[in-house]
Amino acid sequence: MTVSDLQKKIMELKAEKQITVLAHSYQSAPILEIANYTGDSFRLSQVAAEDKNKTCIVCGVHFMAETVKLLSPEKEVILAHPGAGCPMAEQFTVEDILKLKRVYPNHTVVAYVNTTAELKTLADVCVTSSSAVKICEAIPSDKILFIPDCNLGAYTAKMVPEKEIVTVKGGCPVHAAITLDEALKAKKEHPGAKLLVHPECIPSVTALADFAGSTAAIMNYARNSDSKEFIICTENSIAEHLQYELPDKDFYILSSRLICPDMKATTLMDVYNALIGKGGVRIEMSEDTIKSASVCINRMLEIGQ
Ligand code: 13P
Ligand code: SF4
Repeated sequence: MTVSDLQKKIMELKAEKQITVLAHSYQSAPILEIANYTGDSFRLSQVAAEDKNKTCIVCGVHFMAETVKLLSPEKEVILAHPGAGCPMAEQFTVEDILKLKRVYPNHTVVAYVNTTAELKTLADVCVTSSSAVKICEAIPSDKILFIPDCNLGAYTAKMVPEKEIVTVKGGCPVHAAITLDEALKAKKEHPGAKLLVHPECIPSVTALADFAGSTAAIMNYARNSDSKEFIICTENSIAEHLQYELPDKDFYILSSRLICPDMKATTLMDVYNALIGKGGVRIEMSEDTIKSASVCINRMLEIGQ
Protein backbone atom coordinates (compact mmCIF):
# COMPACT_ATOMS: atom_id res chain seq x y z
CA MET A 1 0.00 0.00 0.00
CA THR A 2 1.32 3.49 -0.81
CA VAL A 3 1.09 6.56 1.41
CA SER A 4 -1.68 7.97 -0.78
CA ASP A 5 -3.65 4.67 -0.67
CA LEU A 6 -3.51 4.82 3.12
CA GLN A 7 -4.52 8.47 3.15
CA LYS A 8 -7.53 7.63 0.95
CA LYS A 9 -8.60 4.82 3.34
CA ILE A 10 -8.25 7.18 6.31
CA MET A 11 -10.40 9.84 4.64
CA GLU A 12 -13.12 7.25 3.92
CA LEU A 13 -13.05 5.87 7.48
CA LYS A 14 -13.19 9.37 9.01
CA ALA A 15 -16.31 10.21 6.99
CA GLU A 16 -17.97 6.84 7.60
CA LYS A 17 -17.34 6.87 11.37
CA GLN A 18 -17.71 10.66 11.84
CA ILE A 19 -14.38 10.98 13.57
CA THR A 20 -12.36 14.20 13.64
CA VAL A 21 -8.58 14.18 13.34
CA LEU A 22 -6.69 17.02 15.00
CA ALA A 23 -3.01 17.45 14.12
CA HIS A 24 -0.45 19.83 15.60
CA SER A 25 1.67 21.64 12.99
CA TYR A 26 4.77 19.71 14.11
CA GLN A 27 3.27 16.53 12.61
CA SER A 28 4.47 15.17 9.28
CA ALA A 29 3.03 16.39 5.97
CA PRO A 30 1.11 13.13 5.22
CA ILE A 31 -0.69 13.47 8.58
CA LEU A 32 -1.48 17.17 8.13
CA GLU A 33 -3.02 16.32 4.75
CA ILE A 34 -5.61 13.93 6.26
CA ALA A 35 -6.42 16.06 9.36
CA ASN A 36 -9.69 17.96 9.77
CA TYR A 37 -7.88 20.67 11.70
CA THR A 38 -4.23 21.61 11.98
CA GLY A 39 -2.50 24.37 13.89
CA ASP A 40 -0.76 25.40 17.07
CA SER A 41 -1.91 24.25 20.49
CA PHE A 42 -4.24 27.24 20.98
CA ARG A 43 -6.10 26.60 17.72
CA LEU A 44 -6.42 22.90 18.46
CA SER A 45 -7.90 23.58 21.89
CA GLN A 46 -10.39 26.06 20.36
CA VAL A 47 -11.58 23.87 17.48
CA ALA A 48 -11.83 20.83 19.73
CA ALA A 49 -14.35 22.69 21.86
CA GLU A 50 -16.48 23.64 18.84
CA ASP A 51 -16.33 20.45 16.79
CA LYS A 52 -19.54 18.41 16.46
CA ASN A 53 -18.17 14.85 16.12
CA LYS A 54 -18.29 12.65 19.20
CA THR A 55 -14.87 11.08 18.71
CA CYS A 56 -11.55 12.74 17.96
CA ILE A 57 -8.13 11.40 17.27
CA VAL A 58 -5.27 13.65 18.33
CA CYS A 59 -1.98 13.57 16.42
CA GLY A 60 0.33 15.28 18.85
CA VAL A 61 1.41 14.60 22.42
CA HIS A 62 -0.43 13.44 25.53
CA PHE A 63 -1.16 16.87 27.09
CA MET A 64 -2.82 17.97 23.82
CA ALA A 65 -5.21 15.01 23.90
CA GLU A 66 -5.88 15.70 27.60
CA THR A 67 -6.70 19.32 26.76
CA VAL A 68 -9.22 18.21 24.15
CA LYS A 69 -10.81 15.86 26.71
CA LEU A 70 -10.96 18.63 29.33
CA LEU A 71 -12.84 20.87 26.92
CA SER A 72 -15.12 18.11 25.66
CA PRO A 73 -15.45 15.55 28.49
CA GLU A 74 -18.41 13.86 26.79
CA LYS A 75 -16.29 12.99 23.77
CA GLU A 76 -14.14 9.97 23.17
CA VAL A 77 -10.61 11.33 22.73
CA ILE A 78 -7.87 9.08 21.39
CA LEU A 79 -4.18 9.91 21.26
CA ALA A 80 -2.98 8.30 18.00
CA HIS A 81 0.45 7.29 19.30
CA PRO A 82 0.20 6.01 22.92
CA GLY A 83 3.83 6.80 23.78
CA ALA A 84 3.88 10.42 22.60
CA GLY A 85 4.46 12.58 25.68
CA CYS A 86 5.98 16.00 26.24
CA PRO A 87 8.97 16.01 28.60
CA MET A 88 8.27 19.63 29.53
CA ALA A 89 4.65 18.92 30.44
CA GLU A 90 5.69 16.06 32.68
CA GLN A 91 8.70 17.57 34.43
CA PHE A 92 6.98 18.85 37.58
CA THR A 93 4.94 16.85 40.07
CA VAL A 94 1.90 18.09 41.95
CA GLU A 95 4.08 18.24 45.08
CA ASP A 96 6.65 20.49 43.30
CA ILE A 97 3.96 23.00 42.39
CA LEU A 98 2.30 22.89 45.82
CA LYS A 99 5.70 23.74 47.31
CA LEU A 100 6.09 26.69 44.93
CA LYS A 101 2.60 27.90 45.78
CA ARG A 102 3.58 27.94 49.45
CA VAL A 103 6.63 30.10 48.57
CA TYR A 104 4.53 32.47 46.41
CA PRO A 105 1.10 32.45 48.10
CA ASN A 106 -0.02 35.75 46.54
CA HIS A 107 0.98 34.97 42.98
CA THR A 108 -1.50 33.96 40.29
CA VAL A 109 -0.40 30.61 38.88
CA VAL A 110 -0.18 30.80 35.09
CA ALA A 111 0.40 27.40 33.47
CA TYR A 112 1.60 26.91 29.92
CA VAL A 113 -0.81 24.49 28.24
CA ASN A 114 2.16 22.09 28.01
CA THR A 115 1.39 20.69 31.47
CA THR A 116 -0.39 17.54 32.61
CA ALA A 117 -4.08 17.77 33.54
CA GLU A 118 -3.05 17.08 37.14
CA LEU A 119 -0.89 20.22 37.21
CA LYS A 120 -3.64 22.25 35.53
CA THR A 121 -5.83 21.55 38.58
CA LEU A 122 -3.38 23.77 40.53
CA ALA A 123 -3.31 26.66 38.04
CA ASP A 124 -5.44 29.79 37.96
CA VAL A 125 -5.17 30.33 34.23
CA CYS A 126 -3.65 28.49 31.33
CA VAL A 127 -1.78 30.03 28.37
CA THR A 128 -0.40 28.85 25.05
CA SER A 129 2.66 30.32 23.36
CA SER A 130 0.39 32.53 21.24
CA SER A 131 -1.73 33.78 24.13
CA ALA A 132 0.80 34.06 27.02
CA VAL A 133 1.54 37.77 26.62
CA LYS A 134 -2.09 38.77 26.04
CA ILE A 135 -3.35 36.75 29.00
CA CYS A 136 -0.64 37.87 31.43
CA GLU A 137 -1.43 41.48 30.45
CA ALA A 138 -5.17 40.94 30.89
CA ILE A 139 -5.38 39.10 34.22
CA PRO A 140 -6.01 41.41 37.20
CA SER A 141 -3.04 40.17 39.24
CA ASP A 142 0.36 41.98 39.19
CA LYS A 143 2.22 38.95 40.57
CA ILE A 144 2.47 35.84 38.44
CA LEU A 145 4.07 32.45 39.01
CA PHE A 146 4.70 31.08 35.51
CA ILE A 147 5.08 27.29 35.07
CA PRO A 148 6.71 25.16 33.62
CA ASP A 149 8.65 26.89 30.81
CA CYS A 150 11.16 29.41 32.16
CA ASN A 151 11.99 30.53 28.60
CA LEU A 152 8.42 31.33 27.55
CA GLY A 153 8.07 32.85 31.04
CA ALA A 154 11.14 35.06 30.52
CA TYR A 155 9.85 36.15 27.09
CA THR A 156 6.45 37.00 28.60
CA ALA A 157 8.12 38.90 31.46
CA LYS A 158 10.04 40.98 28.90
CA MET A 159 6.84 41.79 26.99
CA VAL A 160 4.84 42.56 30.16
CA PRO A 161 7.42 44.52 32.22
CA GLU A 162 4.79 46.11 34.46
CA LYS A 163 4.15 42.75 36.20
CA GLU A 164 6.30 40.61 38.45
CA ILE A 165 6.61 37.25 36.67
CA VAL A 166 8.42 34.53 38.60
CA THR A 167 9.70 31.58 36.56
CA VAL A 168 11.07 28.21 37.61
CA LYS A 169 13.82 26.20 35.98
CA GLY A 170 12.36 23.94 33.31
CA GLY A 171 11.47 24.00 29.66
CA CYS A 172 11.36 22.29 26.29
CA PRO A 173 14.47 20.15 25.82
CA VAL A 174 14.23 20.55 22.04
CA HIS A 175 13.98 24.35 21.78
CA ALA A 176 16.08 25.13 24.86
CA ALA A 177 19.02 23.12 23.48
CA ILE A 178 19.62 25.68 20.73
CA THR A 179 22.62 27.84 21.57
CA LEU A 180 23.38 31.47 20.87
CA ASP A 181 26.39 30.38 18.79
CA GLU A 182 24.17 28.26 16.55
CA ALA A 183 21.78 31.17 16.03
CA LEU A 184 24.66 33.57 15.27
CA LYS A 185 26.16 31.06 12.82
CA ALA A 186 22.84 30.66 10.97
CA LYS A 187 22.49 34.46 10.70
CA LYS A 188 26.03 34.72 9.31
CA GLU A 189 25.35 31.99 6.74
CA HIS A 190 22.09 33.63 5.61
CA PRO A 191 22.60 37.37 6.11
CA GLY A 192 19.49 38.33 4.12
CA ALA A 193 17.15 35.97 5.98
CA LYS A 194 14.71 36.87 8.74
CA LEU A 195 15.24 34.84 11.91
CA LEU A 196 11.91 33.52 13.27
CA VAL A 197 12.12 32.08 16.78
CA HIS A 198 9.74 30.19 19.08
CA PRO A 199 9.86 31.70 22.61
CA GLU A 200 10.54 28.24 24.10
CA CYS A 201 14.16 28.98 23.05
CA ILE A 202 16.58 30.49 25.56
CA PRO A 203 16.33 34.30 25.98
CA SER A 204 19.64 35.10 24.21
CA VAL A 205 18.41 33.24 21.09
CA THR A 206 14.94 34.79 21.22
CA ALA A 207 16.53 38.25 21.63
CA LEU A 208 18.23 37.83 18.22
CA ALA A 209 14.92 37.17 16.47
CA ASP A 210 13.43 39.39 13.80
CA PHE A 211 10.17 37.86 14.98
CA ALA A 212 9.33 35.69 18.00
CA GLY A 213 6.04 33.85 18.31
CA SER A 214 4.07 30.64 18.41
CA THR A 215 4.12 28.05 15.65
CA ALA A 216 1.10 29.64 13.96
CA ALA A 217 2.45 33.17 14.39
CA ILE A 218 5.77 32.16 12.79
CA MET A 219 3.92 30.62 9.84
CA ASN A 220 1.76 33.71 9.39
CA TYR A 221 4.78 36.00 9.58
CA ALA A 222 6.49 34.06 6.76
CA ARG A 223 3.29 34.13 4.65
CA ASN A 224 2.75 37.85 5.03
CA SER A 225 6.35 39.09 4.92
CA ASP A 226 7.90 40.69 1.81
CA SER A 227 11.16 38.92 2.68
CA LYS A 228 12.17 35.93 0.58
CA GLU A 229 14.41 34.06 3.05
CA PHE A 230 13.78 32.84 6.58
CA ILE A 231 15.70 30.90 9.22
CA ILE A 232 13.19 28.84 11.20
CA CYS A 233 14.07 28.38 14.85
CA THR A 234 11.35 26.00 15.94
CA GLU A 235 10.67 22.33 15.20
CA ASN A 236 12.06 21.59 11.74
CA SER A 237 8.73 20.40 10.34
CA ILE A 238 7.63 24.06 10.24
CA ALA A 239 10.41 24.92 7.75
CA GLU A 240 9.37 21.90 5.67
CA HIS A 241 5.64 22.79 5.66
CA LEU A 242 6.38 26.43 4.83
CA GLN A 243 8.66 25.38 1.98
CA TYR A 244 5.84 23.30 0.40
CA GLU A 245 3.33 26.10 0.89
CA LEU A 246 5.56 28.95 -0.29
CA PRO A 247 7.92 27.51 -2.93
CA ASP A 248 9.06 30.97 -4.08
CA LYS A 249 10.56 31.68 -0.66
CA ASP A 250 13.53 29.93 0.99
CA PHE A 251 13.34 28.38 4.45
CA TYR A 252 16.46 27.31 6.30
CA ILE A 253 16.47 25.15 9.41
CA LEU A 254 18.57 26.58 12.23
CA SER A 255 19.79 23.22 13.47
CA SER A 256 19.28 19.57 12.53
CA ARG A 257 18.75 18.99 16.29
CA LEU A 258 15.45 20.89 16.27
CA ILE A 259 13.35 17.74 15.99
CA CYS A 260 10.90 16.71 18.68
CA PRO A 261 10.98 12.89 18.87
CA ASP A 262 7.63 12.80 20.63
CA MET A 263 5.91 14.91 18.00
CA LYS A 264 7.47 12.79 15.30
CA ALA A 265 6.39 9.49 16.90
CA THR A 266 2.94 9.46 15.25
CA THR A 267 2.66 7.76 11.86
CA LEU A 268 -0.12 7.57 9.33
CA MET A 269 -0.51 3.90 10.28
CA ASP A 270 -1.14 4.99 13.91
CA VAL A 271 -4.02 7.15 12.68
CA TYR A 272 -5.42 4.26 10.64
CA ASN A 273 -5.15 1.86 13.59
CA ALA A 274 -6.84 4.36 15.90
CA LEU A 275 -9.68 4.73 13.37
CA ILE A 276 -10.31 0.97 13.18
CA GLY A 277 -10.13 0.63 16.99
CA LYS A 278 -6.87 -1.28 16.95
CA GLY A 279 -4.47 1.38 18.19
CA GLY A 280 -4.07 4.64 20.03
CA VAL A 281 -4.90 5.24 23.67
CA ARG A 282 -8.19 6.53 25.01
CA ILE A 283 -7.79 9.50 27.37
CA GLU A 284 -9.47 8.80 30.72
CA MET A 285 -9.65 11.20 33.65
CA SER A 286 -11.65 11.35 36.84
CA GLU A 287 -14.62 13.74 36.96
CA ASP A 288 -12.85 15.76 39.68
CA THR A 289 -9.72 16.23 37.58
CA ILE A 290 -11.79 17.24 34.55
CA LYS A 291 -13.77 19.73 36.62
CA SER A 292 -10.84 21.45 38.28
CA ALA A 293 -8.34 21.28 35.40
CA SER A 294 -10.80 22.76 32.90
CA VAL A 295 -11.25 25.92 34.97
CA CYS A 296 -7.87 27.35 33.91
CA ILE A 297 -8.40 26.37 30.27
CA ASN A 298 -11.82 27.97 30.11
CA ARG A 299 -10.34 31.15 31.60
CA MET A 300 -7.70 31.11 28.86
CA LEU A 301 -10.34 30.72 26.15
CA GLU A 302 -12.49 33.51 27.64
CA ILE A 303 -9.62 36.00 27.99
CA GLY A 304 -7.93 34.93 24.73
CA GLN A 305 -10.99 35.49 22.49
P1 13P B 1 2.69 26.06 20.01
O1 13P B 1 1.92 25.12 19.21
O2 13P B 1 1.83 26.70 21.03
O3 13P B 1 3.46 27.06 19.22
O4 13P B 1 3.74 25.21 20.89
C1 13P B 1 4.81 24.60 20.37
C2 13P B 1 5.09 23.34 21.06
O5 13P B 1 6.16 23.10 21.51
C3 13P B 1 4.02 22.37 21.18
O6 13P B 1 4.43 21.36 21.95
FE1 SF4 C 1 7.21 19.19 24.37
FE2 SF4 C 1 9.10 20.65 23.24
FE3 SF4 C 1 8.23 18.49 22.00
FE4 SF4 C 1 6.67 20.65 22.19
S1 SF4 C 1 8.57 20.51 21.09
S2 SF4 C 1 6.07 18.54 22.57
S3 SF4 C 1 7.27 21.42 24.20
S4 SF4 C 1 9.29 18.55 23.97
